[in-house]
Amino acid sequence: MNKIPYGRHNITEEDIQAVVETLKSDFLTQGPRIQEFEDNFAKYIDCKYAVAVSNGTAALHLCAMALNVKPGDKVITTPITFVASANCVRYCGGEVVFADIDPTTYLLDINSVRALLEASPKGTYQGIIPVDFAGLAVNLEQFRKLADEYGLWIIEDACHAPGGYFHDSNNSEHLCGNGEYADLAIFSFHPVKHIACGEGGIVTTNDVTLYKELNKLRSHGITKEDNQYINSIEFATGGYEDEKEYPGWYMEMQELGYNYRITDFQAALGNSQLKRAESGLARRREIAAVYNKAFEGKSYILGQSGFVEGHAYHLYVIEVKERFNLYKYLRGKNIFAQIHYIPAHLMPYYRQFGWKEGDLPNAERYYTRCISIPMFPTLTDKEQEYVIETINSFYDE
Ligand SMILES: Cc1ncc(COP(=O)(O)O)c(C=O)c1O
Repeated sequence: MNKIPYGRHNITEEDIQAVVETLKSDFLTQGPRIQEFEDNFAKYIDCKYAVAVSNGTAALHLCAMALNVKPGDKVITTPITFVASANCVRYCGGEVVFADIDPTTYLLDINSVRALLEASPKGTYQGIIPVDFAGLAVNLEQFRKLADEYGLWIIEDACHAPGGYFHDSNNSEHLCGNGEYADLAIFSFHPVKHIACGEGGIVTTNDVTLYKELNKLRSHGITKEDNQYINSIEFATGGYEDEKEYPGWYMEMQELGYNYRITDFQAALGNSQLKRAESGLARRREIAAVYNKAFEGKSYILGQSGFVEGHAYHLYVIEVKERFNLYKYLRGKNIFAQIHYIPAHLMPYYRQFGWKEGDLPNAERYYTRCISIPMFPTLTDKEQEYVIETINSFYDE
């Protein structure tokens, strides 16, 4: 059997053509493909505005800036995530407070968050960053209620979950990142994600003020909108006091931003990939259903979160006995499983702030048992069968 990774991108001839066409066009960056991608993506996840950026980490950083995270601000997130979910707070000088995960869903546990909030005076915390880990949608209606009680903002890290959804208390379906409950949401277009741009990310929101702010911050804090200018027309023209309009070249840097732009050829790839997002997601769900059935009743399974409707299955995670030995055994059989994630609070960087073993027991136990097995749309039935058989053979079941 050829090498089977835990995740794999899928580039078609159509994708290549879309990139080549853009490379031959007038715009390599700051051109029409970006707006097109933003519009298409916003439509796909059912929100009003989207701002495409250079990667998911940049998206998180811009969100933290747009929400005005300052030195000393405290923000709550989950330890079972890629470190970028937490790091964005540090970029702005804020303090990351990790809360424990729910041991059955592996998502940020709302009760653990509530306990933190209740233990301190109101105003101690500024925001929450829940993560739709593995593709399982966080119930943001519940988080919104809690956040409103304490005056907090919410950034939804939806990197794993384009197309994922949950049902609210009225049984309405909410797609991850739709902007209904979170102030801002972010996605990544790293190759292992549902939609690949090479590198790429996007922020989604229904809030027009935040949308405009993100646009500005993405490009050095510069605005080119006449009605937002601070300097006078006379200054802008170079002393023409009777002029009624700002000259065509004029722009203003009004705050400190970054160059976090995505290129047009990356956006073209994103646009092309987006056309297959639905079919890719359907295939992921099909693969998950086969895994779910295969692992039912197996004594080596200690936990799995794959049964929930609306799961987008960026990852397929199981908790197993003898995880390390299974991992090595699978590698010997050309199956390259992965571990998601090493708890962020126990990374050496975060230990320096006092985080230590025993602080978040659910996340720490999960880490000793979790393994992400192959999950990507082009995984064949035969390959999946081989993965299941190999796992069963390791446990003699
Ligand atoms: C949950 C989560 N958040 C943030 C990121 C950061 O995205 P990027 O790699 O595009 O910077 C990733 C991607 O690896 C992720 O998985």
